[in-house]
Amino acid sequence: MKVQGAIALVTGANGGIGRHFVETLRTADAAKIYVCARSIAKLESLVALDPDRIVPIELEVTNPESVQAAAAQCSDVTLLINNAGTSLNQGIIAADNLDSARAELEVNYFGLCHMCRAFAPVLKANGGGTIVNVLSLLAKVNLPFSGSYSASKAAALSATHCIRAELGSQGTLVVAVMPGTVDTDLAKDWPDPKVSPAEVAQAAIRAVEEQLEDVYPGEQATQVSGQLLQDPKGVEKYLATFLPGMELAGTQA
Ligand SMILES: NC(=O)c1ccc[n+]([C@@H]2O[C@H](COP(=O)([O-])OP(=O)(O)OC[C@H]3O[C@@H](n4cnc5c(N)ncnc54)[C@H](OP(=O)(O)O)[C@@H]3O)[C@@H](O)[C@H]2O)c1
Repeated sequence: MKVQGAIALVTGANGGIGRHFVETLRTADAAKIYVCARSIAKLESLVALDPDRIVPIELEVTNPESVQAAAAQCSDVTLLINNAGTSLNQGIIAADNLDSARAELEVNYFGLCHMCRAFAPVLKANGGGTIVNVLSLLAKVNLPFSGSYSASKAAALSATHCIRAELGSQGTLVVAVMPGTVDTDLAKDWPDPKVSPAEVAQAAIRAVEEQLEDVYPGEQATQVSGQLLQDPKGVEKYLATFLPGMELAGTQA
């Protein structure tokens, strides 16, 4: 679809990649951009950039009532960007309990599912449209020091495949975005290299324009996704040794 003239909605718009989605959508001439955050106050500076086009929405993606209210309020959306996510940097065995794993699933998997379910009829009514799910390269590989986050993104990737199949007949494109490490707060303790959040947002919006289903923004994600096709067991063994602070070079994986 053409992003020019689109009515977009970005979850987690106050975050690192989210703000760059808004910037990229403005540059691409989207007609309206709903920006969502858990607290409207976190959106003030974003709205001030372009008050005629940017509309703030309070949204908690784990709360079905909040999601339904957003869908009712934003019934003209043609491009849904599920960007909100959380990473609590825990293993599965090493964690004291599974509270972090549950919290990550609530946002990264169930939150994404709530959003897609609520907005599927909106997109259908508006001609099909596009859903962009911001997943992670860790949907395809597990980084054990953040193992429960990886598992939540793997669940979200599987859900993306299901939603893509279920919404194919209404003409909705469903894009999976799988960057490696991105230079935002979420990954401040993660090893280099890091792709810029601007590059991730731009690659995702290009995919919308070019009707691509799977995107791996940045060199690390491109390299590791290629290596996964050739030697998945080798990649698993390589990542198993990773600890915070070590440098993850795609070429060695
Ligand atoms: N950074 C990376 O290395 C990396 C790599 C691959 C994929 N990703 C994915 O990229 C997306 C954006 O992450 P980021 O790097 O930009 O991190 P970020 O700066 O921490 O932004 C995350 C955003 O998600 C919002 N959020 C979290 N839980 C939410 C909830 N329950 N309801 C509504 N909004 C919620 C946050 O809002 P609050 O400010 O209120 O917490 C924040 O706006 C995430 O899905 C993340 O998993 C990141």
